[in-house]
Amino acid sequence: MPIMEGRERLGFIGMGGMGRRMAARLLDAGLRLTVYNRTREKTKPLAEKGAAIAENPRELAAASEVILSSLSDDAAVEAVMLGPDGAFHGARPGTIFIEMSTLFPKTVRRLFEAARGKESPFLDAPVSGSLPQAEEGSLTIFVGGTVEIYEYCKPIFDTLGKKHFYLGAGGNGAMMKLVANVLLGVGMQAVAEAVALGDKCGLAKGPLLDVLGETAVISPGHKMKLENARREAYPAAFPLRLMLKDYRLILNQAAECSVSMPATAVAQSLCAAEYTRGFEEDYSAVIRLMEELSGSVEGGAVRKREGAIH
Ligand SMILES: NC(=O)c1ccc[n+]([C@@H]2O[C@H](COP(=O)([O-])OP(=O)(O)OC[C@H]3O[C@@H](n4cnc5c(N)ncnc54)[C@H](OP(=O)(O)O)[C@@H]3O)[C@@H](O)[C@H]2O)c1
Repeated sequence: MPIMEGRERLGFIGMGGMGRRMAARLLDAGLRLTVYNRTREKTKPLAEKGAAIAENPRELAAASEVILSSLSDDAAVEAVMLGPDGAFHGARPGTIFIEMSTLFPKTVRRLFEAARGKESPFLDAPVSGSLPQAEEGSLTIFVGGTVEIYEYCKPIFDTLGKKHFYLGAGGNGAMMKLVANVLLGVGMQAVAEAVALGDKCGLAKGPLLDVLGETAVISPGHKMKLENARREAYPAAFPLRLMLKDYRLILNQAAECSVSMPATAVAQSLCAAEYTRGFEEDYSAVIRLMEELSGSVEGGAVRKREGAIH
């Protein structure tokens, strides 16, 4: 496969928490890589590993045969792809795009159409898993687009993920990601309420978390977050702002398709409440919110935090 023989030149746009870890894996696999990030400073560690740095997405596209991207949201991806110095302007016919951000499926389909106009194959390939999984190449990847391009790009997906799935037409990867994140968000809210109940009603916090982590009903992703509850510290891996963005995508999609999602709507509301009073913390900080609402925070004190985001 040419991609893994190192002849292909790859580009990666977006050196955020996820993007820079995925880009590092591609470099470690011996691939030739150009990177771009709006805040240039974040490209430094990649340059030290041997990546070329592009001035803008257009320049990156002109230097690449396959372009990956991982960016905050729909607006960021549209700016980076379609803006005046956007990647679509630098791409040649045949340049492959692999878009890995979590986006609204309709936006993804718009990008597919724009790429078709440039004769550039496009895959949507959002990921499940967080920073540790991006670092160790154990993400789960949901791919939409043409099957031939998926097959061609498999070596890249093998480098970044432990599992990848082809889901059919462009946009289906994005849709699958929204489906998975319903469980991520609502599951986290359920864990938060369970912890608050146990804590308030007399179970010691340590054994409560230990035992909850051993039950068959908690997911591996949520189990990891019990350590945050134990330490009462919620450093951002998947920040509240990105969870809120995903709730917005999920609930907009549900509204478009007339799907009733009452539990998701309530979980969104509590996530928003935590976001508006806090710092850049992990989405699992809803555990602390539910503990505080129940009055079960250890020591009985309801913490007051400053620097609320409005
Ligand atoms: N973090 C996770 O655990 C996780 C897990 C699964 C999926 N995801 C998804 O993966 C994507 C990336 O997540 P992340 O955690 O890496 O986010 P992040 O750390 O916030 O990084 C966001 C990236 O987008 C860039 N960006 C934002 N707005 C931009 C704009 N208008 N123009 C150009 N660049 C812009 C940022 O550039 P600057 O550096 O200049 O700000 C940065 O490179 C998101 O869609 C997220 O939902 C994240």
